[in-house]
Amino acid sequence: MSILLTGGTGYIGSHVAVAVAQLGHEIVLYDNLSNSDEAVVTQIAQIIGRPLTFIRGDIRDTQLLQLTLRAHGVAVVVHLAGLKAVGESLVSPLDYYGNNVQGTISLMQAMKAEGVRKIVFSSSATVYGQPKYLPLDEAHSLSATSPYGRSKIHIEELLRDVAVSDPSWSIACLRYFNPAGAHDTFLMGDNPKGTPNNLMPFIAQVAMGKRARLEVFGDDFETEDGTGLRDYIHIMDLAEGHAAALEFLGSSQGWHAINLGTGQPYSVLQMIRSFESVSGAAVPFEISARRPGDVAACYANANKAKSVLGWAAKRNLREICESTWRFQQTLAQRLK
Ligand code: NAD
Ligand code: UD1
Repeated sequence: MSILLTGGTGYIGSHVAVAVAQLGHEIVLYDNLSNSDEAVVTQIAQIIGRPLTFIRGDIRDTQLLQLTLRAHGVAVVVHLAGLKAVGESLVSPLDYYGNNVQGTISLMQAMKAEGVRKIVFSSSATVYGQPKYLPLDEAHSLSATSPYGRSKIHIEELLRDVAVSDPSWSIACLRYFNPAGAHDTFLMGDNPKGTPNNLMPFIAQVAMGKRARLEVFGDDFETEDGTGLRDYIHIMDLAEGHAAALEFLGSSQGWHAINLGTGQPYSVLQMIRSFESVSGAAVPFEISARRPGDVAACYANANKAKSVLGWAAKRNLREICESTWRFQQTLAQRLK
């Protein structure tokens, strides 16, 4: 089967590409490289042991998408392309609605025109807003505190409307919790351009000595040690969750929202300690003010993924920290 991955050279897309290619599928990566590097295409090819197609393009370019779907006989799309920085979305909301919402409309138009009716969409636990109860299941109400979060809710809703309008569509919205870690070859991992927004790449860069210290955003939350609790999921578990979703779409119709998380929360201080113990490197930190919009705790009820997809996360926090650390070292070696 031929599978198009929008945002395929990004952090999550590159790992999904490997997991899916290793099942024997043909992979077409489609990305405008606004937040990734074409070099990852070579790394994916090296890991899977065969070449793959990369198209440099924007998801708002409906015509190029149509040509790509047609030329490669694409059967399913995994739609990861989009902007993802919460703070930036508050400053540039039009970019977020343009790339994320308008981009998805353009993609759906191209798919409709080419008769492609199966799509996996990268949603986020951010759609749950301030949790009303924990762990979060898929029936929890949706709300958002940023244009980024709202763009994800808008996209989920527009996808549901499309599925209602035409029952031949099969749509899975995967609500990721906190993806972290790297591929076991350590050739690929989270290597954001500029200052990392997320905790794990920031910790890793401090441990590598690239940054002086980590700011811990608040130690006065209602959690055991006062710092935020999150559900960190190994990137390869997440990637395998996509492979399971592709199989599920083969035998299902309609719109489905499914959490991809572990159900096991860790605090910021636990993450720092775990990383220090695995790497042997110090992670100096200081407590600073809460980051606007941050919730005290956010973790998944992952039962639906288990029952519907037959998937559950297998890797632990140690493996997340270890792969992150080894990836950082490989990266430093490569840049020497
Ligand atoms: P990423 O920035 O590494 O990957 C996104 C890719 O999309 C990048 O390669 C970027 O160049 C590309 N892109 C952006 N706008 C595009 C456009 N208009 N046309 C074509 N390509 C475009 O981010 P990621 O962490 O791999 O995230 C992938 C998806 O998962 C995003 O939709 C993100 O919102 C979602 N998500 C990520 C996380 C996370 O913690 N990383 C959590 C929840 C949801
Ligand atoms: C953030 C986004 C969320 C997005 C997700 C994945 C916000 C408010 N939320 O989630 O919408 O879907 O990333 O991209 O930005 N932390 C620090 N210091 C740091 C960085 C983070 O203490 O330098 C803390 C945070 O306060 C939080 C935890 O680490 O408690 C995890 O943060 P992060 O990795 O940014 O993920 P989320 O906040 O869960």
